[in-house]
Amino acid sequence: MVSSAAPAIAPDTSPGGSPLLDVRGLTKRYSGLVALADYSLRLPAGTIHGVIGPNGAGKTTLFHLLSGMVRPSSGTIHLQGVDITHLPPHRVARLGIARTFQNIRLFGDMSVIDNVKVGVQQRLPVSLWSTIITGPSFRRREEEVTARATELLDLVGLADRAGRIARSLPYGDQRRLEIARAVAVDPKVLLLDEPNAGMNPSETGELLALIRRLRDQLGITIILVAHDIPLVMNLCERIQVLNYGVLIADGEPATVRADPDVIAAYLGQAKHA
Ligand SMILES: Nc1ncnc2c1ncn2[C@@H]1O[C@H](COP(=O)(O)OP(=O)(O)O)[C@@H](O)[C@H]1O
Ligand SMILES: [Mg+2]
Repeated sequence: MVSSAAPAIAPDTSPGGSPLLDVRGLTKRYSGLVALADYSLRLPAGTIHGVIGPNGAGKTTLFHLLSGMVRPSSGTIHLQGVDITHLPPHRVARLGIARTFQNIRLFGDMSVIDNVKVGVQQRLPVSLWSTIITGPSFRRREEEVTARATELLDLVGLADRAGRIARSLPYGDQRRLEIARAVAVDPKVLLLDEPNAGMNPSETGELLALIRRLRDQLGITIILVAHDIPLVMNLCERIQVLNYGVLIADGEPATVRADPDVIAAYLGQAKHA
């Protein structure tokens, strides 16, 4: 928490300035297999950044590493100048990195709104939370949590399904619910792992608009992993391409799309076949 007495430090988003997220030489080996090799990223605040690559390229491994769920073999991760390389997931989350999963992880038997309320409540330190649930302000706090969760459901377009049981929702709705729950913790960086998997084109179009709203209205910096090339090309200001754990391209969408290595490895157009 930054106290009001702290000196005002404007977020530095200039290309040469210090990035929100600074990843250097990140490597993950699994007995012989190098899942991610010497990966680096300087991510300015407010960007929508894309990571693409074939199956097994190391995209989900990258998210496991950034969220503290897997320990890197080497390399460093800094968030706003703080070294988070070896912090456990709950501390990384509290410092501002939230994620969704390629395989949806919701509380399936809980209602839609309760799934989001869990996220809203996670923002509070445990000590404060236990004071609240035993104190007189409990009812007021509960109302605030419900109101915030309702706002988030509205943001992702699920406000009319608040009382439904999570697992009864169609797949695309479950993915948007997972995003609402991740956003509920007020992250600085949101990692979205194939958020449009299983969605039809119209659902994917809504998702694209939602991701833009998360950045434009809530100021969240986003890293998006997806297989849907048009989605990534439309949405992202910068794209990295992974292949067998190695970065083979890194730049603006138009540059990446035209890169012969990317075309050969991933986009599948037999340019020099
Ligand atoms: N826990 C693990 N143990 C061993 N190998 C793993 C493990 N997790 C991922 N891998 C391997 O690392 C590589 C990258 O996987 P992953 O990051 O899931 O790729 P992507 O998300 O790009 O499809 C794959 O070859 C995968 O089999
Ligand atoms: Mg994956």
